[in-house]
Amino acid sequence: MMSASYDFSGSTALITGAAGDIGRAVARRLAGSGARIALTDLPMVSERLEATREECAAAGEERAIVAITADVTDQASVAACFAAATDRLGSPDLVFNNAGYQGAFAATPDYPTDDFSRVLAVNVQGVFNVLREGARRMRAEGSPGSIVNTASMAGVHGAPNMIAYSASKGAVISLTQSASKDLAPSGIRVNAISPAFIGPGAMWDRQVELQARAGSQYFSAEPAEVARQMIDQVPMRRYGTVDEVATTVLWLLSEDASYITGQNIAITGGI
Ligand SMILES: NC(=O)c1ccc[n+]([C@@H]2O[C@H](COP(=O)([O-])OP(=O)(O)OC[C@H]3O[C@@H](n4cnc5c(N)ncnc54)[C@H](O)[C@@H]3O)[C@@H](O)[C@H]2O)c1
Repeated sequence: MMSASYDFSGSTALITGAAGDIGRAVARRLAGSGARIALTDLPMVSERLEATREECAAAGEERAIVAITADVTDQASVAACFAAATDRLGSPDLVFNNAGYQGAFAATPDYPTDDFSRVLAVNVQGVFNVLREGARRMRAEGSPGSIVNTASMAGVHGAPNMIAYSASKGAVISLTQSASKDLAPSGIRVNAISPAFIGPGAMWDRQVELQARAGSQYFSAEPAEVARQMIDQVPMRRYGTVDEVATTVLWLLSEDASYITGQNIAITGGI
């Protein structure tokens, strides 16, 4: 399959959730395009973050790819991360705001309070912290920028047993729409992506396992059967790959999408 290649030389990209499957796939694709890249994720996954950095350094220029640990829920940590990225690579004009957490899988009456708070902290406060810091710096630079926020189809339709995650991803779509209006005058585009079933990967495995355990009318108690039930919801009858997510993100980050802002792009195989 042919896929587009972009020239991002002169740009600095900051990617959150870069130790994870989708963040890594986007980083890998960007690395060969000439972009300088700051990869960030939680300190507790620093080994996986370093693995992403090494993979990207092999495809790009070693000095232009840096790994910086940060917790997106903590505004000071986010600000320090952007400051370190700027010192080493220049101010980011591309941001893939992608860190996320699924939380517990349980029906609404049983949903745990702590998990509700944690999911909103990562997926809403965290996305806001990164969006605002990126936007402040881009506006101060006075040059165009592009921000892509990772939402989810759960935020469009509401997924069973995932009330916190669905609410948080709905908020990501609204944050995107609102920010796109605030930032259009500064030449900064803000879009969201909403993947549905993407695999193979940690999130796919986790949701198949936990939907089976949640015991609802929507899914079997057998994980292999849950996987089939999920795929049966997809008109294209397969899950999407992380590379198929990455190609969409690169397009949104690129000048090829220069008139696209405030949009939520579904990556769903037709759901
Ligand atoms: N994989 C899917 O099927 C799918 C579908 C829809 C949406 N998404 C979204 O895509 C994004 C990436 O998911 P993925 O599939 O790569 O999952 P993943 O679990 O492999 O990656 C998520 C990353 O976010 C990081 N993270 C979590 N909390 C953080 C925090 N407080 N600070 C900094 N980093 C933090 C994790 O450490 C992890 O590396 C997420 O926002 C997820 O909700 C994924």
